[in-house]
Amino acid sequence: MNAFIEKFSDLVGQTVTVQGWAYNVRSSGSIAFLQLRDGSGFVQAVIVKNAVDEASWNAAVETTIESAVRVTGTVSKHPKQEGVYELQAVSVELVHKSEEFPIGKKEHGPDFLLDVRHLWLRAPAQWAIQKVRNEIIHATYDWMRDHGFCKIDSPIFTPSACEGTTELFEIDYFGERKAYLSQSGQLYLEAAIGSVGRCFDFGPVFRAEKSKTRRHLIEFWMMDAEAAFVDHEQNLKIQEELVCFIVERVLKNCQPELKILERDQEPLKKVQAPFIRMTHADAIKWLREHGSDIGDMDDLGADDETLLTKAHDKPIFVEKYPAAVKAFYMKRDPSDPTRVLNADLLAPEGYGEVIGGSQREDSYDMLLERIREHKLPEKDFQWYLDLRKYGSVPHSGFGYGLERLTTWICGIHHVRETIPFPRLLNRLEP
Ligand code: 4AD
Ligand code: MG
Repeated sequence: MNAFIEKFSDLVGQTVTVQGWAYNVRSSGSIAFLQLRDGSGFVQAVIVKNAVDEASWNAAVETTIESAVRVTGTVSKHPKQEGVYELQAVSVELVHKSEEFPIGKKEHGPDFLLDVRHLWLRAPAQWAIQKVRNEIIHATYDWMRDHGFCKIDSPIFTPSACEGTTELFEIDYFGERKAYLSQSGQLYLEAAIGSVGRCFDFGPVFRAEKSKTRRHLIEFWMMDAEAAFVDHEQNLKIQEELVCFIVERVLKNCQPELKILERDQEPLKKVQAPFIRMTHADAIKWLREHGSDIGDMDDLGADDETLLTKAHDKPIFVEKYPAAVKAFYMKRDPSDPTRVLNADLLAPEGYGEVIGGSQREDSYDMLLERIREHKLPEKDFQWYLDLRKYGSVPHSGFGYGLERLTTWICGIHHVRETIPFPRLLNRLEP
């Protein structure tokens, strides 16, 4: 019977076949150990020369690091380590003998590892990161469905900008016109709420940003959510609940992964509602008191976010930014029209922004004024303006960056490790 390693706790005493790769090998005259990885987990196979036939013993001895193997054996509990299992082999088959694997046990620089990203993905930490990413994706879909959000797939080719024109990737569309790669599906979701009320998308987005920081990717995955009849306050509640749910699910279902990553879990356990809330003005005040030279109406820079979030042990909503530093579609704060009804959610431990969201401008005239102020091509936004003509409603939404969220939850340094094949300013390969 073929079995996945993750199911071994239910299979003690049974004879099963594991198919996978040997990530480490060790043998002496009469015993060999193959550390196996099958995608679901890791296990050590013990091959005793006298207990297997000659072909199996030869296969075990010939197995090199990263060879593909099929090992049949009896599942047993590790003699010393609780929750760890072993496979007492009865037969070993070498499916493919690997050439010398370029990634060794010694430290490699990030450039080399990114050059061999197609192989680096196999490393236990990289495996763990992808599994956590996967859990975040599934938790999001589950939460959205349970809270009435319909999945709406927004387009990737778009005729206009969503988040400002400086970071758009331009495409030649059949030599006839320009098209752009989507920066966020938000505007399309705003149309879809007129149909389904609450919705979300989840897909790749593109930012032609010439930034080379640990937080920036050129191509990344965004989950945008949008809801009719939801105001700024309710928007924050939705985000808070969703983020708590995601973190809880990772804590529940990804213990082996978090252990491989040596993630300190205490900060994650503190991710509970209510999150800290600060107005932009309060954040500026706090930052100045703590050594930043940020101006009153400035956007928060990466260093400011790091300073602020290192000093707090819960996620922080920073709300009501100056309108001048935010996108055209955000609704103004009625109590201070120089500011908008938005919030960025900053993750603790120095991670910074993981979500950007706001209440949207729902008045036709105001929105038109903003489009003109931002010098956006009015014609391309006519459909978006239409939404304010036919049953316009108060509505809000937000978008999270999957890689930023994964980086924080995994407790790793750089966002580039959280996407299978990162696209960076200076890297398109592999
Ligand atoms: O703050 P942003 O630009 O917001 C929007 O695009 C809105 N339209 C979302 C909405 O309201 N539906 O991007 C949202 C999130 C950020 O908070 C950040 O987590 C992530 O996307 N993000 C990036 N992640 C990696 N690399 C980049 N270059 C990113 N730019 C934004
Ligand atoms: Mg933002």
